Amino acid sequence: MRRLTAAVAAALLVVSAAACSSEREGPDNTADTAKGFAADALIGVALPSKTSENWVLAGDLFTNGLTEAGFQSDVQYAGASTTVADQQAQITAMITKGAKVIVIGATDAAQLSTQVAQAKQSGAVVIAYDRLITNTPDVDYYIAFDNFEVGRLQGQALLDGMKAKKATGPWTIELFSGSPDDNNSGVFFNGAMDVLKPAIASGDVVVGSGQTEVKQTATQGWKAENAQSRMDSLLNSTYAGGKTLDGVLSPNDTLARAIITSVKSAGKPLPIVTGQDSEVESVKSIMAGEQYSTINKDTRKLVAETITMVKALQTGGTPTVNDTKSYDNGVKVVPAYLLPPVIVTKANAAEAYANDPKLAPLTK
Ligand code: BGC
Repeated sequence: MRRLTAAVAAALLVVSAAACSSEREGPDNTADTAKGFAADALIGVALPSKTSENWVLAGDLFTNGLTEAGFQSDVQYAGASTTVADQQAQITAMITKGAKVIVIGATDAAQLSTQVAQAKQSGAVVIAYDRLITNTPDVDYYIAFDNFEVGRLQGQALLDGMKAKKATGPWTIELFSGSPDDNNSGVFFNGAMDVLKPAIASGDVVVGSGQTEVKQTATQGWKAENAQSRMDSLLNSTYAGGKTLDGVLSPNDTLARAIITSVKSAGKPLPIVTGQDSEVESVKSIMAGEQYSTINKDTRKLVAETITMVKALQTGGTPTVNDTKSYDNGVKVVPAYLLPPVIVTKANAAEAYANDPKLAPLTK
């Protein structure tokens, strides 16, 4: 009997705790947000380490854009090695300083639940920027380029590039994916495989090494040296006997250049290599006919749209989203605002970068 009472009491406690927490944290019930916040409030921006140019750009754009919009800003990057702990500490510090919105480009999607829970408890709104934060109910919005579409465009570019070079198959390829702790990596890969799988199934495309699982193709930390050493060992094994490599699916520009370096130093002909991010050195490489493609995800647009979200929250409004189904983070489907990525090859580079003062001159 006593046990039963204890169980009932425990159950009641759970129910009332749940009721409390839903009053405090329920999505339609965020009293603080509904009232908005001061026009000069502090906005925190926690970015990962600078694994590609887009992150470097984003930091400056956030600092300037938030200041111009009248906010105070605190923009931080995770360091190069202790990335997860750095980012966790930076987010905690932003909460302590009273940030009203915390924009996060996660260094590890699954390691921020404690910090975002603290952020929610303090009344701050959490926006996942470019990379989704997983396994937590405490992320309010997601803003990114359409990652699945990025992958599809990469897969299609790989097929198109190989066909343009050699009209009929079979074509032999290798697959690379990004860092497993970045939620985007699997989404890019799945998008690319959505296009490549039928060609692999029909035998038109052959993965030379047979390594087709995302785990086998991963590049820890998005580090160039990791992609380069995997490419070195593929060339020394699968391709040692002189087998032709027609194409490489590379998830971004930094890794594309590492793969190209590896192929060059092995003295082999360059395959079609895809990329992403429109990095300066890759745009030069595309114009020189080495890297085949990249993806234009204009960081200026992504940051501007994020600041638009922050402004909506400041006035007590609801930020605009255009996707409420794609990004299930394991606990909830996070309302997302997705921008369209653009595929860029030598053929459309001038047009694609016409409005980019840094890249346009490279395409002349
Ligand atoms: C971004 C890519 C970038 C990669 C490595 C991803 O999450 O979406 O644009 O290339 O991180 O920094």
